[in-house]
Amino acid sequence: MSESLATVSYIGATILFILSLGGLSNPESSRRGNLYGMIGMTIAVLATIFGPRVTMAGIPWIIGAMAVGGTVGIYAARKVQMTQMPELVALMHSLVGLAACLVGFANYIDPEAAAHLTSAEKAIHEMEIYIGILIGAVTFSGSIIAFGKLSGKIGGKPLLLPARHWLNLLGLLIVIYCGWQFLHAESVSAGMVPLIVMTAIALLFGIHMVMAIGGADMPVVVSMLNSYSGWAAAATGFMLSNDLLIVTGALVGSSGAILSYIMCKAMNRHFISVIAGGFGTGGGTVVAASGDAQPVGEAVPVNAAETAELLREAKNVIIVPGYGMAVAQAQHTVYEITKLLREKGINVRFGIHPVAGRMPGHMNVLLAEAKVPYDIVFEMDELNEDFPDTDVAMVIGANDIVNPAAQDDPNSPIAGMPVLEVWKAKTSIVMKRSMASGYAGVDNPLFYKENNRMLFGDAKKMLDEVLTVLKTQ
Ligand code: TAP
Repeated sequence: MSESLATVSYIGATILFILSLGGLSNPESSRRGNLYGMIGMTIAVLATIFGPRVTMAGIPWIIGAMAVGGTVGIYAARKVQMTQMPELVALMHSLVGLAACLVGFANYIDPEAAAHLTSAEKAIHEMEIYIGILIGAVTFSGSIIAFGKLSGKIGGKPLLLPARHWLNLLGLLIVIYCGWQFLHAESVSAGMVPLIVMTAIALLFGIHMVMAIGGADMPVVVSMLNSYSGWAAAATGFMLSNDLLIVTGALVGSSGAILSYIMCKAMNRHFISVIAGGFGTGGGTVVAASGDAQPVGEAVPVNAAETAELLREAKNVIIVPGYGMAVAQAQHTVYEITKLLREKGINVRFGIHPVAGRMPGHMNVLLAEAKVPYDIVFEMDELNEDFPDTDVAMVIGANDIVNPAAQDDPNSPIAGMPVLEVWKAKTSIVMKRSMASGYAGVDNPLFYKENNRMLFGDAKKMLDEVLTVLKTQ
């Protein structure tokens, strides 16, 4: 393939990636967006393999590597549960970071890479290597820790070292000093020492940064690491002088940064304070509510027949799905119930919290899979004011996103996070297996409210029972 054809292919792939991102911003166009992305990536890979910079001798290596990578990828994608997706994504981000580090070291050692460069170009090239390895190492170790936290292998409690900000500052100063040493090194072996010291510090910084972030703030970390992996890819593009990698990395980096900002807004957090760490608590352990939010009253259980009765008599119903619906894979039954109620003239709508579940858009994906019409699925802000006019708010496997302590208890780890105000409905029904806390590990006073009912059990099993009762009446 000639240089110009490869360039045209790269431009085509870039346009397809931009169209892909545009498509992914809306559930209705997301399939098309995915398709654009797949076509773009196929063009990009083919143009690279058959482009002018790969020799015939290199092709078997590339095909071998693609076969190994592709097999692992297909195996992982088939095996992974929908609820484990964020962990998989975190692992994949770690690979992008690792790749950036390896490419950086290989580029520095390669005698060909800088042979034809002037001294100014060589300095720029070395700066690219240094920054690329720095971002790659932070992304790699940070993503590994995020994987550990999301999969429950590492506790969600923030690790707050004494004088942690000073430690970070010291690390930064050493990285700057090593950078200066690296750029002024006489030989590759002399430059290797500061490069390795910087890599070790960057790895430690990645670990420290994510360890200091509490369970409740993990959504921001996932999208932030997504952004870092984009910048790591862009840095790799600079090292390899590959324009498409630079553009693609920048697209991922900036869209990840925008997503992090949206996540922070959704959780009422300042981005800098999330990164500085210390928010959130250990996942799974109950943190007692304090003050006004102290649970009062008793949790009132109901059974499936009583739930069906409440639904049948309602005029307006809002369903709030959460992580438990994903675990139970109850979305299809939810839609069956929705259809039946709508046929009876009941107004059923869905309220989606921006961080419901375990990844951005988690609930939208599940509801789309179950073929729930998009026009009855609303964002939190679009229907939060409608709860006082709602007869039944049905909470399916959600907990933190409907926790009134976020509004009532300033000491709560989720204080200030906007929540769906289901307790303002005439009756709220919470469907879950026990009284256990959600991801943020915070007790939920909603369960004890007078107008709240608890339907205990696996969401799929309980909804099947509710559906059976509704069908027989
Ligand atoms: P959670 O607060 O985690 O609550 C989910 C509830 O589902 C649990 O309390 C659990 O209670 C219940 N559950 C689990 N399995 C179930 C099953 N089979 N049937 C019925 N119920 C089941 O979820 P949420 O309300 O969706 O809030 C999301 C949380 O995750 C937030 O804290 C958010 O910050 C965090 N987070 C979100 C993301 C993104 S990007 N969305 C990423 C990482 C973390 P039982 O055990 O009693 O059944």
